[in-house]
Amino acid sequence: MLFNMWYVAADLADISDKPTQAKVLGQKLVIFRAKDGSIACLSDICIHRGASLSAGKVVDGCVECPYHGWRYDGKGAVAKIPAQPPGAKIPQHARIDSYPVVVKYGWVWVFMGDLPEAERPPLPEFPEYDDPEWRMIRGEFIWQADYARVIENGLDFSHAPFVHPSFGDPNHAVIEDFEVESHEWGAKATVSYLPPMYKGIWKLLRRERTPVRASPSFHMSGGLMCLKVYITKDWTQIIYDVNTPVDENTTHTRWIHARNFMRSRFADKDAKRRVQAIFDQDAAVVERIQPQLLPVDLSEEISLKSDGLQIAYRRMRRSFIKKGWSIDVNYFKNQQDKKHARVVPSPERRREEHKNIHWVIPTVPVEDIAKQVREGQRVVIEEGQIH
Ligand code: FES
Ligand SMILES: [Fe+2]
Repeated sequence: MLFNMWYVAADLADISDKPTQAKVLGQKLVIFRAKDGSIACLSDICIHRGASLSAGKVVDGCVECPYHGWRYDGKGAVAKIPAQPPGAKIPQHARIDSYPVVVKYGWVWVFMGDLPEAERPPLPEFPEYDDPEWRMIRGEFIWQADYARVIENGLDFSHAPFVHPSFGDPNHAVIEDFEVESHEWGAKATVSYLPPMYKGIWKLLRRERTPVRASPSFHMSGGLMCLKVYITKDWTQIIYDVNTPVDENTTHTRWIHARNFMRSRFADKDAKRRVQAIFDQDAAVVERIQPQLLPVDLSEEISLKSDGLQIAYRRMRRSFIKKGWSIDVNYFKNQQDKKHARVVPSPERRREEHKNIHWVIPTVPVEDIAKQVREGQRVVIEEGQIH
C-alpha cells in the first residue's frame, strides 16, 4: 500500500459536529471540524493511554479523548490536559500526527504522508463535475480485495467480454493495439470494443450494433480509476471512482457516475443499478485473485500488449515503491493492533520545530525492495516480457 498519496477518507456529508472515524492504509483516523471551521484529520490514537479519539467529542474546535479528557487541536497538538494542576506545562512532545485535508467533489481527501506541500501530487481533475450538462449520481462499494488489484480491474479491457455480459461479447474479445498516454501521476488509453445490443431503456441509445470507444485512465491520487465510454458521437458516460486502501484486503470505492443523456432523475435508478451490477460482477472475480496483493515485478504474471494500461500502472507503482513509499504490510499483519501502534508519518514530523521531539508513536515500516533482493526473497526482473 502506497503512502505519500491522497486518499478519500470520508464523504463530506458524513462530517457532523461529532468526530468521524475513518481507516486508511490500515490506520485509524479521526476527522472533525477544527476551530477555524476547516476539517482536520488526526491519528485516532491518544498518546496518553491509547484510547480512540473518534469515540470522544468535539469541544471548542478540539477533539476530546473519551478516557481522561485530553484535547487535541486540528494540528495534532495537545491543547488541554485536565488532570494537570493550573499553570502546569503541557509536554512539548504531546502531539500526534495531523494529515493535510482537501474537500473536493463531495469527499474529504487526506494526504497520507510527510511530503511538503510542493512535492505532493495534485488531485485528479474531474472537469464535468458541477457542469449542468451532466447528470451525476454517486455510490460506494466495499471490496474484500487489495486496492491495487481493484484499480487494475478497472484498467483491464480484456475482461469485459467475460465478466460483464452487458458490456462485452466473448466472440469479439480481440483488443486492437492502442497507445498509452502517460503523465507524471497517471496514464490513459483509448480502445474500441463491440458491446452487445443494449437492453432496457438504453435500447434507445444505440439502434445498431456498432463499435464503441472507451477511455480508461488512472491517477495515483485517490487510487482513481476513470472510465469514459463514448456510446455514440454525442452520448457519453463517465465513471469516476476513487479507491481507498482501508487495509491490505479491504478497498472502499466511492464513485460518481456522470451521463450527458437521459438526464431526467427518473433514469437515475436504472443507471445506479447498472453501475452496481458491474461492481458485483467484478468482485466475484477480483476477491478471489491470488496472490491477494498486486505483484511488484512484471515477471510474476504473464502480461500481454492488451494489458498495456495495467502495465503502465504497475510500472508507476513500482517507481513509488522504490522511493520507499510502500508500507510493508507483512509487519502490519503480525504486529499492528496487538503490541505496537504504528502510524503513517505526517508533514508535521519534518517541520524544524518538531524534528527533534520524541514522537510517541513510531512510523510504519517501509517495503525495501533492494533489501529483499539482497536477502534472496525477491528476484527483480525490471522489464518482464510483454507478449
Ligand atoms: S487515553 Fe486519552 S486522555 Fe487518557
Ligand atoms: Fe470490470
